[in-house]
Amino acid sequence: MWLLRRNIYIVISSFEMENMFKNHKYIVLISTLIIGVIGISASLQPGSDFKNLRVLPKDITEQKLDSIMDSYCKALNVGCDFCHEKKVDSTGKVTDDLDFAADGIMKENARGMITLMIDINTRYFYYDKTIQPAYLNAVSCNTCHRGNPFPLNE
Ligand code: HEC
Ligand code: HEC
Repeated sequence: MWLLRRNIYIVISSFEMENMFKNHKYIVLISTLIIGVIGISASLQPGSDFKNLRVLPKDITEQKLDSIMDSYCKALNVGCDFCHEKKVDSTGKVTDDLDFAADGIMKENARGMITLMIDINTRYFYYDKTIQPAYLNAVSCNTCHRGNPFPLNE
């Protein structure tokens, strides 16, 4: 990226400013280059296409989100469909695919649990302030759940 930016800088500085403004072609050329670079930077941003994150960090990577979701499944001994709703097609028929961005009761309950976990980990334990609170795991879902979605029934 830096190299590209430097190149543009060199392109700009290699033209006489006056000439540049007399000749619209250069302005168009340079704007196109700049827009291109902005476009490339935007597409290289880490971060995600997730649409409906309210408690997990919005710039979470796909890899991190996957590993967190897997850890929920393991801790509760459930599949993704325990928390995520099924997709409904255009005719109103419920499909086998999950709509991960959609909200349902279990997902909302799980958000409460994530908040509870953040609270416990940041309030009652020393923690590394450089780590996102949602990624702390002195106490994790598994500390209480141990493979049971409803630990009160144990
Ligand atoms: C214990 C409940 C639970 C389980 C099980 C679970 N999830 Fe989630 N998932 C959540 C919650 C809660 C959120 C929203 C987090 C937030 O609001 O920050 C979420 C969000 C997501 C999102 C982001 C959707 C968006 O666009 O906002 C994806 C993708 C996802 N989960 C995939 C999965 C997959 C794949 C599995 C199975 C491997 C899975 N989840 C299992 C609770 C769960
Ligand atoms: C401090 C202990 C504790 C931690 C930590 C914890 N849970 Fe829970 N969780 C419980 C208890 C207790 C219940 C009550 C279940 C019941 O009704 O038997 C529960 C219930 C749930 C339920 C069922 C819905 C409900 O509200 O009854 C879900 C889903 C859930 N937890 C997800 C999670 C996830 C995901 C995490 C980690 C982000 C987590 N929990 C962390 C103790 C905990």
